[in-house]
Amino acid sequence: MFPVIDFSTKPSTKYDTAIIGVFEDKKLTAAAKTIDGACGGILSHQLSSHKAYEAKEGHILTVALSAKAPYLRVILVGLGDAKKINAHSLENIGGIIAGALKTQGAQNAVFINADDINCDGAALSVGFGTLLGHYEFDKYKTQKPKAKTKLARLTFITDDDKKSAKEFAIKKSLAESMCMVRDVVNEPPNLLYPETFANRMKKTLTPLGVKVEIMTKSEIKKRGMGLLYAVGQASEFEPRFVVMSWAGAGAKNSKTAGKSGKKQQPIAFVGKGMTYDSGGLSIKPADYMMTMKGDMAGAGAVFGLMHHLAKRKCAYPVIGITPLAENAVSDEAYRPDDIITSYSGKTVEVLNTDAEGRLILADALTYVQKHYDPKLVINLATLTGAIMGALGTEYAGAFVNNETLWTQLNDASSSTGEKLWRMPLADHFRREMDTPMADIKNIGAGRYGGACTAAAFLQEFIDKDRAWAHLDIAGTATTTKSKSTNPVPFGTGYGVRLLDDFVRKNFG
Ligand code: BES
Ligand code: MN
Ligand code: ZN
Repeated sequence: MFPVIDFSTKPSTKYDTAIIGVFEDKKLTAAAKTIDGACGGILSHQLSSHKAYEAKEGHILTVALSAKAPYLRVILVGLGDAKKINAHSLENIGGIIAGALKTQGAQNAVFINADDINCDGAALSVGFGTLLGHYEFDKYKTQKPKAKTKLARLTFITDDDKKSAKEFAIKKSLAESMCMVRDVVNEPPNLLYPETFANRMKKTLTPLGVKVEIMTKSEIKKRGMGLLYAVGQASEFEPRFVVMSWAGAGAKNSKTAGKSGKKQQPIAFVGKGMTYDSGGLSIKPADYMMTMKGDMAGAGAVFGLMHHLAKRKCAYPVIGITPLAENAVSDEAYRPDDIITSYSGKTVEVLNTDAEGRLILADALTYVQKHYDPKLVINLATLTGAIMGALGTEYAGAFVNNETLWTQLNDASSSTGEKLWRMPLADHFRREMDTPMADIKNIGAGRYGGACTAAAFLQEFIDKDRAWAHLDIAGTATTTKSKSTNPVPFGTGYGVRLLDDFVRKNFG
């Protein structure tokens, strides 16, 4: 679990480790000088004689102290160029601190001079990075390092201790929700499948006041969600359809009249929840199948978002929907050439069973519009390999049919650092999916523009005039590289921060 992060105006001696931020000029700030004095000047000596240490962003110099010193050690952490410092570099520094404290086996640490960093909420950003950098996923290791000492507490010295503590509570909740998403994405597909994933959502969210309804395979069939049913029909792990509703703090339910006396239309989030994507009968080559446990990251993000919104008591009503299925191979599998009737009534000719995400999303998008008439719908999906070809692994592709919504999402993207790049919606992509056999087929005509045809397929199921965004997160939801704020290289938790910021700025 997370260490305690707290804020205090005065240091005490109960810490084994002091952390001091040092800019590239390598000058000790006033607060740091006091520590240096108490440690016999060893810090200033190290900084002036250790020429190779340049205090670049995140560079660490650990100084071991004598028996008389107030701490076991001081960790000097480089802050780089004072003019370039910002919330994102501070999060990175926080993540690096988490790593350094871990290797040192520190249990109680104090960050001495956050107030010397000229950036709003510096301590909050460092602390947030530390929480994210503390993430682990070792629950399936039977042999864990023995007698591991863990960081229990990190205290920031700041004059704004009360205000910081209050603001940090929200950041901590956000970090928790992001790490919860990493957890579900990292879980193996033999253990996290539609039933267990749905149960986890219900168990986690119900106590927070989110209503969670779970539809089973037979209910999915009875309701007429033919696409979700078809994609999930081969697996021993049966599909589920999960509807999470948050009424908005203070309201009785989403249909309740708001303050203005008018009905408040909820906002809706839909996440692709393929707990494993083997490709189905259009089976994936082995090298492409690995990592497909992460094909439920869109659903994970919606789960994490609902979690955080409920904890921070979001004022506005929000609906979260996750269609969950495993795309498996068996004698009961749906086939290339099948024609399936969707929940909307439109028929779909399946020509590639590996283009399954758009199918289950189509039914979920129809469902949420029909039953909730939302003000806007945003879906997240690890939908196409093509988006990675186009944008790489830092940017998610944003397909948006409404200029205001795009401006709002783009703004949330710049403030949170979860990057978005706008992609085109155009009728010619939709025309590629014309077929003489049915209303639409599930793949485009050729090799190119795969992310755009997938988006055009989804748009076919969006009501005219409904504000909608499709975020293709195939490149950003998982990673092969660890970084300071995400030391376990797989699930990133992408989407929770972005959409929380979007909701808070525009809806409360
Ligand atoms: N889940 C995959 C997309 C994906 C690929 C996510 C790589 C993350 C990493 C999706 O279901 C898929 O298989 N898409 C196909 C579509 C094609 C068959 C039209 C693709 O991208 O190749
Ligand atoms: Mn697929
Ligand atoms: Zn998929």
